[in-house]
Amino acid sequence: MKNIAIFASGSGSNAENLIRYFSAHPQGTVRLVLSNKAEAGAIERATRLGVESMVFDRDTFYNSEQVLARLRQERIDFVVLAGFLWLVPDYLIAAYPNIHPALLPKYGGKGMYGDRVHQAVVEAGEKESGITIHRVNGQYDSGDIIAQHRVPLAPDDTPQEVAAKVHALEYEYYPQAVEAELAKL
Ligand code: GAR
Repeated sequence: MKNIAIFASGSGSNAENLIRYFSAHPQGTVRLVLSNKAEAGAIERATRLGVESMVFDRDTFYNSEQVLARLRQERIDFVVLAGFLWLVPDYLIAAYPNIHPALLPKYGGKGMYGDRVHQAVVEAGEKESGITIHRVNGQYDSGDIIAQHRVPLAPDDTPQEVAAKVHALEYEYYPQAVEAELAKL
């Protein structure tokens, strides 16, 4: 059984989806949710679902070993990013997966996250969007791609409608991708 930690900055709907997917799973379980925001929905969801959580500030994350110590204390085998918006420091880079709400390399990079991505996709008149599951490296959205999944867009789709389509893909495919990565450990 592998212990999973999830880093999330926002609402945490993907974190919740992963917690539920791995709640009665033979390969892995989510033991810890970590966030740079105390008020993140991800922390509230973890608490509600009985999963341990940790909140850290920028100095702790980049200039101390407290996060690493907590990961070791919980015997974490695998880290997943799900809507986590800070660059990860070297100590966390170990080919872990991240999810991006568009078809990289388009609509990626610094400042391209969450609804900003969907807004840009709509403004560009794209006929499709999708998700990219990629490995974390030291830069934004540029690690090796593990999988991409596409969804057609209607000409009058709003950014909120695009977000809903993209989230549906994330909920379906991200847990499976994590599961496949766990199988390689
Ligand atoms: C997700 O759509 C995720 O792909 C995106 O933020 C959303 C978080 O939603 N991540 C990024 O934009 C990272 N560049 P959630 O908090 O409800 O899971």
